Amino acid sequence: MNRIPVWIDTDTGVDDATALLVATKLEELEIVGVSAVAGNTSLENAFRNARDVLSLVGRKDIRVYPGAEKPLLIDLFTAENVHGSNGLGGAEIPLSDAPVETEKAWDALYEKAKEYKGELVVCPVGPLTNIANAIIKHPDIVDYIKVLNIMGGAAIGGNVTPCAEFNIYTDPQAAETVMRSGIPVNMFGLDVTIKAYLDDDDIAEISSYGNPVSDLFRDSNHLLYQAQERLYRSGLCEHDSCPILYTAHPEWFEGYECGIYVETQGTITFGKTVTDLWTDYKFDDRHCRFFLDLDRDRFAERIKEAYRSF
Ligand code: RIB
Ligand code: CA
Repeated sequence: MNRIPVWIDTDTGVDDATALLVATKLEELEIVGVSAVAGNTSLENAFRNARDVLSLVGRKDIRVYPGAEKPLLIDLFTAENVHGSNGLGGAEIPLSDAPVETEKAWDALYEKAKEYKGELVVCPVGPLTNIANAIIKHPDIVDYIKVLNIMGGAAIGGNVTPCAEFNIYTDPQAAETVMRSGIPVNMFGLDVTIKAYLDDDDIAEISSYGNPVSDLFRDSNHLLYQAQERLYRSGLCEHDSCPILYTAHPEWFEGYECGIYVETQGTITFGKTVTDLWTDYKFDDRHCRFFLDLDRDRFAERIKEAYRSF
């Protein structure tokens, strides 16, 4: 099987951890690099968590690069209330002893994108600061990234304001830079990710597996569970696993061609992803796809299968 080369950019919170862990178990994918960005938590925590999570599953071979400590222009806005003070809901796992990479994320990503000659799929699951920095510093990177499968945004709704989703709200200037770069985008916003949930039975089952990785799941998700019970329903929305599982199983997801731009000037609408999905007026540039639905049962089963296998 020709495996798909994937780069994951993450603000390593608890749903990011699940996305990383699941990605290591998808035989369709080859993870060729990971980069950390500040978002859910500080860059220091996101970088350490990504390293430690990959080491926990025996994948110290996957190099993790440090990225941005803060958004392009605005101050850092984190989510300790959901991901805890350490980014993993307070759960403790062994420190990785993998060599510590010092090359900046945007430089490492650029080199890897050139190496894969236009075949690299990049999955940003945090604020888009690193991706924007890569485009600003290396403009020809747009010729080498095949597609950006992004967790972020919302055609309708928001989880930070009524208009804005966290990954976009925390760095809208970066998101707008990415949207205007011309790199093809598959966007997995809240419209689909709130449908991509593990229900209480799924959570109990994973928590019962009794391996160190399922124990991390058991011990790290309580704050996210409480937050999402308030917002949506009981269960855990595995937002960041959507672009990862889509990359391996696109047939499980339903998306529509559209244009997507980001509000960077508004007050009430600051950080909103504006799409022309349902409007008479269509943007001239419609190089994106926005996803609205998925096969949740297959999504949840694949995540459980991954956690069973550690
Ligand atoms: O809005 C959900 C997104 O914000 C996810 O990526 C989660 O990890 C947080 O970063
Ligand atoms: Ca994330």
